[in-house]
Amino acid sequence: MPAAVYGTPLADVLETPKGARQLSPLLPGSDDVAQIADASLDEIVLLVPPGAVEARYVVAQALRVLAPGGTLSAAAPKDRGGLRLKRTLEGFGCEVAETARRHHRICEVERPAALTGLDEAIAEGAPRLLPSGLWSQPGVFSWERLDPGSELLIQHLPKLKGEGADLGGGIGWLSLAVLKQPAVTKLRLIELDRRAFDCARRNVEDARVSIEWADVRKVAAPLTDLDFVVMNPPFHDGGAEDRALGQAFIRAASSALRKGGTLWLTANRHLPYEAVLNEAFKVVKPVADAGGFKVYEARR
Ligand SMILES: C[S@@+](CC[C@H](N)C(=O)[O-])C[C@H]1O[C@@H](n2cnc3c(N)ncnc32)[C@H](O)[C@@H]1O
Repeated sequence: MPAAVYGTPLADVLETPKGARQLSPLLPGSDDVAQIADASLDEIVLLVPPGAVEARYVVAQALRVLAPGGTLSAAAPKDRGGLRLKRTLEGFGCEVAETARRHHRICEVERPAALTGLDEAIAEGAPRLLPSGLWSQPGVFSWERLDPGSELLIQHLPKLKGEGADLGGGIGWLSLAVLKQPAVTKLRLIELDRRAFDCARRNVEDARVSIEWADVRKVAAPLTDLDFVVMNPPFHDGGAEDRALGQAFIRAASSALRKGGTLWLTANRHLPYEAVLNEAFKVVKPVADAGGFKVYEARR
């Protein structure tokens, strides 16, 4: 019984079938649902992502790859899209049994023979070329525009040279700015989200760059002896977990740099990064503060 799972739902919310292929783009090594043949799976379990367009895309893709009669179990937290899940599935022509557990809405569906609206939802959520000239996809960070924090960092980038890294590089905005500088000889862009990683590979075509689909905290080939790091660390809504992730990025940057190497960081000004910057770096200097963002230069 070929099965797949998207994300890592709590065991008491949804049971993940044994041997299921992982489809979440946020888990390096997973499969891309867009590459799976129509009607080729018997069971799919989804922890549906929060964005409305990405959620419709994932649900539509799941229905496309399920064989008629196959089962789809989908869940989302009530305050992160769970309340619209049943309506989404019904809109595609499914009959839905809905339950609630652990603040999630859970929908069970048997894939009907006929479905409607899948192609539109898949087209709406697919990667595309934006007017900026860059590829992006709904669901990736600030998918439609340059983030103002990243813009502030780009405006304050100094002359860079040698080897560096762009941690959490997204679709490649910061890397593109860095690679405009001819004295930069090498750049590693590390990104966790496969959708952003795929777009970055299309956006950043430069012999000096290597683009890696990986978690900054667990990079296979360690980052060492770098001259510089640029980053806009992940923050979401600034919850405790996100702050810890941003702080882990700062520590990773510090251990990636040679002595005297420099981190250029932009962050929401309310995020508590100064203590960890001061702990991990010899000299920390705020270089810009505008529009709710702060840019720091931190020297090892
Ligand atoms: C604030 S965004 C910045 C994106 C890009 N640098 C820009 O300026 O548009 C942070 C990025 O880090 C990525 N990310 C989150 N956790 C990560 C991790 N553990 N390892 C690598 N990248 C991660 C996110 O997917 C997101 O693309």
